[in-house]
Parts: sequence; structure tokens; C-alpha cells
Amino acid sequence: MTDDLERVRDDVLAAISAADSLAGLEAVRVAELGRKGRITGLMKTLAGLSPDERREKGAALNRLRDQVAAALEARRESLARAELETRLRSERVDITLPHRPQPDGRIHPISQTMDELIDIFGEMGFSVAEGPDIEDDWHNFEALNIPAEHPARQEMDTFYLRERPDGSRPVLRTHTSPVQIRTMEKMQPPIRIIAPGRTYRSDHDATHSPMFHQVEGLLIDESTHMGHLKGCLIEFCRAFFEVSDLPVRFRPSHFPFTEPSAEVDIGCSREGGTLKIGSGGDWLEILGCGMVHPKVLANCGIDPTRYQGFAFGMGIERIAMLKYGIPDLRTMYDSDLRWLRHYGFAALDVPGLTGGLAR
Ligand code: PHE
Repeated sequence: MTDDLERVRDDVLAAISAADSLAGLEAVRVAELGRKGRITGLMKTLAGLSPDERREKGAALNRLRDQVAAALEARRESLARAELETRLRSERVDITLPHRPQPDGRIHPISQTMDELIDIFGEMGFSVAEGPDIEDDWHNFEALNIPAEHPARQEMDTFYLRERPDGSRPVLRTHTSPVQIRTMEKMQPPIRIIAPGRTYRSDHDATHSPMFHQVEGLLIDESTHMGHLKGCLIEFCRAFFEVSDLPVRFRPSHFPFTEPSAEVDIGCSREGGTLKIGSGGDWLEILGCGMVHPKVLANCGIDPTRYQGFAFGMGIERIAMLKYGIPDLRTMYDSDLRWLRHYGFAALDVPGLTGGLAR
């Protein structure tokens, strides 16, 4: 290659490596290899040379052109990569968000207890039923075999609402038993439901709140008897309190809507002034139950000569306080964050029979 061409080559290669953008590089290409470019111009001069000169200079020019083309391509690639990298860097989205702090919210012991009840009875085949908080006389009393003059009406300290135009007086339900009635009115046996929910009585002290929670249970079919009632509730008490040999006692009692009726006590000890659930020679009442009264079945359009079953009801606050050692009922409704952090449950601490109900 002649000195001339060598100078051109050094010059062009320097320009290529100095180009710092794709646009700048393209300008170099046009200036050298474009239609009016320098190397293109040199190619054109070949026409005026003798065949020998042309062959020699032609080969040298071709080499130069190929070298320049290769250098352009290499530089183009590296500039393109650099440009892409700059763009990727500038458009980068940081998906590595810092880990979220533990949520502060806690599950209230009442909600946790309801979940546990649903879990235990769900395992036995009960499904969850619901009813309204504002009830009529029929569902809260009459259909449950509690007539107007019955003393149970006074005992329940009912909240009455304003009279309706038709003369009826709605009440805030005093127990979850009206859900029994609503369920039986809607469906024929077999029935197997529990009904957790709010209940209201005009009563307020360390162990009573005007609003509290109950869970109702109802099982009706053709062959259910008192033995099933006992087995079901003994099993429940042992699962809920997580004491496998917990003593459970059925004491005769009375409810207008069950016959026979019983109250259930669980074993405990009160040694040294502290209450401990389990075998300790002492007893603690936790729920009411019985065989559904034939009149109640008939009131709901269920044939009492064909069907029978049992029902039970218990206070959720009461069993929650016993299980989790909460001494004062009123603190349940204070919405005190310190209390909730102490007695509440983590959101993901879902009750389950296999992993322990609550850890
Ligand atoms: N409803 C009753 C109460 O509130 C409890 C109960 C329910 C008793 C079902 C027997 C059967 O005290």
C-alpha cells in the first residue's frame, strides 16, 4: 500500500475510534465510503490508470475499503452496546423493594375464637349460618317456645326498638337461637349448622356487656339422640381448650326451646386463686344445650314425629377469656392497642386442628 493510502487509513481509523455516537460514526462513514466520500473518490481515480497500476492500486484500495468497513462495523457495535446500556441504566426500575415491616394489626381474641369454633365444628361437618342482629318477636322468642308472658323474656333484659306501623316491636336479638329458627324455616333436615354472631342484652358489669357474642349449634335428622349431643360437645370442649382428658359434665337445666336441657361444665382448678382448665376437682359452666323441643320443630314446619336433634349455645367472650386468661370482659371493647398487641393474634396465625389451634 502506498504511503498515501496508509495516511488515509490511519486518518480514517482515528476518526472511527474518536466517534463517540452512532450519528458521529455515520458521518465518518459518509465522508469516506459515501457516494461523495474520500475513499469512493479514490476508487474513481482507478479508471485513469494503466492496467498494471490499476490492478495494484485497486487491490490496495479494496483492502483499505474492507478494513475501514470492518472498523466501522466494530465501532458501530460497541457504540450500540454502550448506548443500550446507558438506556437500560436510565430506564431501570428497581423491583427490589425493601421488605415491608411487619403489619401492626392484630386479630382480636373474639375473631380468633370464632375462627377456632368454625374450624372445630367445620371438621365435624357443621357449616356456618347467619341471621340479622335486629330480630322480630317470632324468631327471637315465639318460635323458640318463649311466649309473651314467659319469665325468660324478663331474664333476657331485651333491648326493644321503636314500634313499627304494624304494631310489632323489633328487638336486638338476645341470643343466636333465632338463627336456628331461620335455618329450619328455610331448609328440611338433615341440618348441621353453627351460627356465630353478635347478641345484645341490657346488662353491664365486669362480666356482662350490652353487646356480646354467642355461637349457636343446631343438628337435626332422623336418628340423633342425647348421646350424639354429649359426644359432640365433649369433643368440642377438649379440642377447643386443647386438653385431651378434660372432664366434661352435663347438668340438668331448663330452656324453653329444648327438652331435655342441660348445662355443660368443664373441669378446672382454682388453687392459689388462679384458674386452670383441666382436671382439678372444680367445675366451670360454659354452655347450654338440649334436644330441640318438638314444638320448636313444628313451629318451623319440620315434622317432630319424624325428625329430632340437638342445639347448643355459648358465649364467645366467656370461652375466649377462659382459654386466653383475659381477666376483664370490658377490656375486650376498649380498642386499646397495647391490650390488642398483648392478647391479639398475628394475621397469619390461622387456627387449624393439625397445627394446634392458636400458637
Ligand atoms: N340461647 C340460650 C342462651 O342464650 C343458649 C342455648 C342455645 C341453650 C341452644 C340451649 C340450646 O342462653
